[in-house]
Formats: sequence, structure tokens, C-alpha cells
Amino acid sequence: MTVLVAGGAGYIGSVTAAELLRQGYEVVVYDNLDRGHRRATPPGAVFVEADLGDFRTLVVTLKKHAVDTVMHFAAHSLVGESMEKPELYYENNVVVGKRILDAMRAAGVNYLVFSSTCATFGEPARLPITEDLPQHPTNPYGETKLAFERMLHWYHQLHGLNYTVLRYFNAAGAAHGLGEDHDPETHIIPLLLQVALGEREGITIFGDDYPTPDGTCIRDYIHILDLAQAHILAMEKKRDTASHYNLGNGAGYSVKEVIEATRRITGHAIPAKVGARRPGDPPALVGSAEKIKRELDWRPQYPDLESIIQSAWEWHQRHPGGYQD
Ligand SMILES: NC(=O)c1ccc[n+]([C@@H]2O[C@H](COP(=O)([O-])OP(=O)(O)OC[C@H]3O[C@@H](n4cnc5c(N)ncnc54)[C@H](O)[C@@H]3O)[C@@H](O)[C@H]2O)c1
Repeated sequence: MTVLVAGGAGYIGSVTAAELLRQGYEVVVYDNLDRGHRRATPPGAVFVEADLGDFRTLVVTLKKHAVDTVMHFAAHSLVGESMEKPELYYENNVVVGKRILDAMRAAGVNYLVFSSTCATFGEPARLPITEDLPQHPTNPYGETKLAFERMLHWYHQLHGLNYTVLRYFNAAGAAHGLGEDHDPETHIIPLLLQVALGEREGITIFGDDYPTPDGTCIRDYIHILDLAQAHILAMEKKRDTASHYNLGNGAGYSVKEVIEATRRITGHAIPAKVGARRPGDPPALVGSAEKIKRELDWRPQYPDLESIIQSAWEWHQRHPGGYQD
């Protein structure tokens, strides 16, 4: 079976591509390298450097490699940037997304796994976030991801295209010699590790007066390899239907807890100062993964925060400055 990994030179796509190869699948990585790294493309995968909006190239690639499944990781995914340039997010996450679905129809590929996000829920009415909660995004990033979810719904209803939506919370950790290297980096674990490596002075905590036990925001972290495995299970078990799963860990950690755990693992003091709250940051976002555990027998191998940070720390020590390409 051949899987086209759209955005496979990025963080989550590259690890999933490597895990697919390990499990014996053929992999085509398709990425324009706008925000990805050539060095993150696993050897063993065919690499196509092109934009997913390039309809002809995508159709030819899907046909040439007899692709059965598309895993769609490619997107713009910075909340702050989306609040400044919503047009960029509608273009890449919705308009280009539509071209992918049309190219799949033209090439006769009938199943897609989509990287969606907890940001489609906005500020949830209750925790942990289950799949049945209403989705009210509070920024263009979440809104455009939800728009693509809705597009999938109608392509399924009217064109018979099957899909699985996986809504991630915070992907973290490293695997298969691949790790997290975003520019700009906005995720707390790589930022903390950059401090531990002396690449950054310290870290700012955005508010410590939230209604949480230690006053800092609570988020849900999931190991990148557990995420990759969820994609593969979905592809193997749910390819003949349309389904949606939240992929949290069920357990949240506060910003202060993440900082403390990183201090323990790295042995570095990691100076932290408290700054103002960021607009639109909900106090807590924790996802329930009960549905995917029940239906797909998904069993996270690295549920605890320490092993997630430890794997990221090992990768960052071996790759100071990131991929450097
Ligand atoms: N990282 C997280 O914690 C997280 C959480 C929730 C959801 N997600 C979603 O998961 C997906 C992957 O996230 P990531 O952190 O790996 O992102 P990433 O930026 O590291 O990877 C995205 C990749 O897609 C490529 N790409 C983007 N637009 C493209 C286009 N038009 N044509 C070809 N290639 C294109 C980029 O070059 C990049 O390599 C995204 O869709 C994101 O919204 C991520």
C-alpha cells in the first residue's frame, strides 16, 4: 500500500512517514519545503518537492505511485500569524485543501487522514474535550481547519470520499531521529530545550493568574510516535467510512509543571519570568482519547510527560540549532 504524506518534511509528517516505512508501507513525501526540512524526509521515501496547490503535479504523483491513501499534514498552523494574515490561512488550509480533494478524485484515490486540531473547539464548554462538543473556533487557524473538516463531510456525502479526522492537542517529543524545528518556534517544549542548550536566554510564562491550581495554563501533550500510530490505525481500520477522533492524552500539565519537568531532565535552571496573558488563551485544553481507544484500540506508548520531554531533549542535544537546512 502506498501513502502520500502531504507535508511530510514537517514535524509530525516526517515522523509519521518514517513510522509508515518501518511498518512496511511505501511512502511518497510531498512538500514544498516552505516550512519543512529536506533533512527531515526519511530515506526510503520518494520525495516530491512541489506545492499541493499544483493540481497537475499532484494528480501525476498520485497516479504514478499508485497512491491508496493521503495523509494530509500540510498547513499553516500558527495561531498568532493567522490573526494577522487570515488570507494566508484561507488560501493554504482551505483553497489548497480543496485542490487536494479534487486531485484525489481525479486520480481515483478515495481515503484521506486529516491533521485537525483542538483549535477547532475554541473555548470548550467542558473538559476533557470529547468529539461531540460544539466547535466554535476563536481564530482563523482553527476556523480554516474546521472549514476543511466540513469540506470533507460534504465530499464524503456527495462524492463518496472517505476520511478520518484526527484532532491533535500538542504534539511533542522526537522519534526515528526526527524532531521539532519550527521557525518561528512557538511550542513550549522546544523553546525550553533551546534555553537548556544556551540558544535562548529564558522563557516567558504568559500569565500566572488563571483559574488553575498553580495559576498557569494547562495543556495536553502527546508523543509524536503515538500520533503517528493513530494515523496508521485509522488507515488500517477506518478507510471505508468517515470518522472523527480527538487525540489528547486525557491528562493536562500546567506550564509550570512542564518547566519543572524540563529542569529535572536537562539539569538546567531554565530562567522563567511571568509576562502578560496572551489574548485568547483558554485556561485549560485537555482532550479525551476514549473514543479512539475504544474504536481503534489505540494505546499510547509514551503517555507521561517525562518520556515525551526526554525524547525531545535527546534529539535537541544531537541537533543544536535544528536541522540547519
Ligand atoms: N504541532 C502540533 O502540536 C499540532 C497540533 C494540532 C494540529 N497540528 C496540525 O498538524 C499538521 C502538521 O503540523 P506540524 O507541526 O508538523 O507542521 P509543520 O509546519 O512542521 O509541517 C507542515 C509541512 O507542510 C508543508 N506545507 C505547508 N503547506 C504546503 C503546501 N501548500 N504545499 C506543500 N507543502 C506544504 C510545510 O513545508 C511543512 O513541511 C498541521 O496541519 C497542523 O495544523 C499540529
